[in-house]
Amino acid sequence: MRVVATRAELAEAQEGAGDRRTALVPTMGYLHEGHLSLVDRARELGDRVVVSIFVNPLQFGPGEDLERYPRDRERDLDLLRQRGADLIFVPELDEMYPHGEPTVTVSPGSMAKRLCGAHRPGHFRGVLTVVARLFGLVRPEAAVFGRKDFQQGVLIRRMVRDLEMGVQVELSPIVREDDGLALSSRNAYLGSGERAAAAALSRALFEARERWRAGTSSASSLLEGIRGRVAAESLLQLQYAEAVDPDSLESVGQVVEGTVLALAAFCGTTRLIDNVELSGR
Ligand code: PAJ
Repeated sequence: MRVVATRAELAEAQEGAGDRRTALVPTMGYLHEGHLSLVDRARELGDRVVVSIFVNPLQFGPGEDLERYPRDRERDLDLLRQRGADLIFVPELDEMYPHGEPTVTVSPGSMAKRLCGAHRPGHFRGVLTVVARLFGLVRPEAAVFGRKDFQQGVLIRRMVRDLEMGVQVELSPIVREDDGLALSSRNAYLGSGERAAAAALSRALFEARERWRAGTSSASSLLEGIRGRVAAESLLQLQYAEAVDPDSLESVGQVVEGTVLALAAFCGTTRLIDNVELSGR
């Protein structure tokens, strides 16, 4: 496994790769089994797996957790080595944005005004801009993202389609703890009481999926159930719960196969997101 920090080294490593098919996994580090499952998927899609680790300031809003975002470079590299990644790109800020903050950025359009985007203005512009830069630097044939960040995945797919970027975008299943909590680097912020309360989020989503499987199709009824479950945990503060079409992210009134139930909630000061796709009725 080779680790490179500059665009020059990256370019040189790319030349050496010849016509091997490259699959990219972009991350912000502090890796867990969710990230590593993307590496496994990338190995199936390419002959060569490139992982980037970069905490992207462009996608953090004022007052968000950019400064305290957890970091552990050595541990990340050990995990990636064990998992068989080929090339790791770990740029510093001035290597990722050598001309300063980009003035030309990717506009995510109206789909970024919904769900998380409604509460994090500028977030998806920052995400799409850094992903577009990574695609430009690495020139992958495929890239793998997690369904955990469902809106992000849908927007990246849309960017690749609308800007004809020619990258195969794969969305990979959510990896969860035994009690259902979706793995997230931000779970490291949770105290033990918060950690226990956080499991109510996935429980609420799974319960709604069971109700749907048992015949309830009304989105408002399913969402009311979720809101009630979350409200019962005093440490949780729901930001939104919605039932959306998986391609357009528009809210739906009647829930059908493929509809996604998505939510965001604060657990103390930590913002957590989760979602389920409805299937198996
Ligand atoms: P980060 O939060 O580090 O996540 C990197 C990738 O891991 C994303 O595609 C995310 O959806 C996926 N992931 C996180 N938790 C997961 C889980 N429990 N199961 C499956 N996949 C999971 O998402 C970002 O970084 C950034 O926005 C990035 C795309 C790197 C751009 O800066």
